[in-house]
Amino acid sequence: MTGRAPLVIAIDGPAGSGKSTIAAALARRLGLPHVDTGAYYRAATLAVLRAGVDVTDADRVTATVRRARIDRYAGRVVLDGQDVEDEIRGPAVTAAVSTVSAHPPLRYHLVELQRAEVGAAGGVVEGRDAGTVVVPDAPLKVWLTASPAERAARRAAQLGPADSDAVALHAAQIAERDASDAARMVRADGVVEVDTSGRSVEQVVAELVEHAIAASAARGGGG
Ligand code: DC
Repeated sequence: MTGRAPLVIAIDGPAGSGKSTIAAALARRLGLPHVDTGAYYRAATLAVLRAGVDVTDADRVTATVRRARIDRYAGRVVLDGQDVEDEIRGPAVTAAVSTVSAHPPLRYHLVELQRAEVGAAGGVVEGRDAGTVVVPDAPLKVWLTASPAERAARRAAQLGPADSDAVALHAAQIAERDASDAARMVRADGVVEVDTSGRSVEQVVAELVEHAIAASAARGGGG
C-alpha cells in the first residue's frame, strides 16, 4: 500500500433526504467514521438554549458555544461531559437550530471541530456544506434528494406512528427549514446527485459504494 490519505466522502442534502441513514450505513460498509456535522449545530443550539441566550444574537451565541465542550464518542454527542444525543434530536433544538446555525462566526468554530473529527481516519462527512466547506477536497461528494412528500413521511415516521396530520405538519416544518437553510445548501462542483425516493437504504448504499470505488481508483491513478 502507498501512504495515501484516508478516504473522505461528503454527503449533503436537505432534511429528510435520507442523509443520516445513508451516511451511517455507508460508513459502516466502508469501515470509515461517520461524521454528522448537523449534530454539532444541534449540540451548539442546546448549549445556547440551556444558557438562556437569545438565539438571534450572533456574538453571544458564538461566545456561549466557544465556552462549551462538544465531543462525539461512538456516534453520540457529548456536551460538557453529558451525553445529549437524544435531547439534541428533540423539538426544542429542532425548532431553534436553523437560526443558531446561520451565524457565520459560530460556523467557523464548528467547522474546525468537524474537521478535527475527520482527522487521520477519513470519514463519511454528512451535512449541508460538507462538500463545499468542511471537506471540499473530498474525492467523492454526494448530494441526496427525495420528493417533498417522502421527506415529510420519513421525518414523521422517525418521531412516532405517522398519521396524515403529522405528515402535513412535518411537510410544513421541512419547507420552513429548507427556506431558512437555503443559503447553506449549495451543491459542490463535481457532486454526484442521487434521488433516494422509493429506494431502499441498501440500494442507495450499493450505488454509493460503486462511486466510492471509482473515486478511490481515480485518486490512486492520479497519484
Ligand atoms: O441534518 P440535521 O437536521 O441534523 O441538521 C440540523 C440543522 O443544522 C439544519 O437545520 C441545518 C443545520 N446544519 C447546517 O447549517 N450545516 C451543516 N453542515 C449541518 C446542519
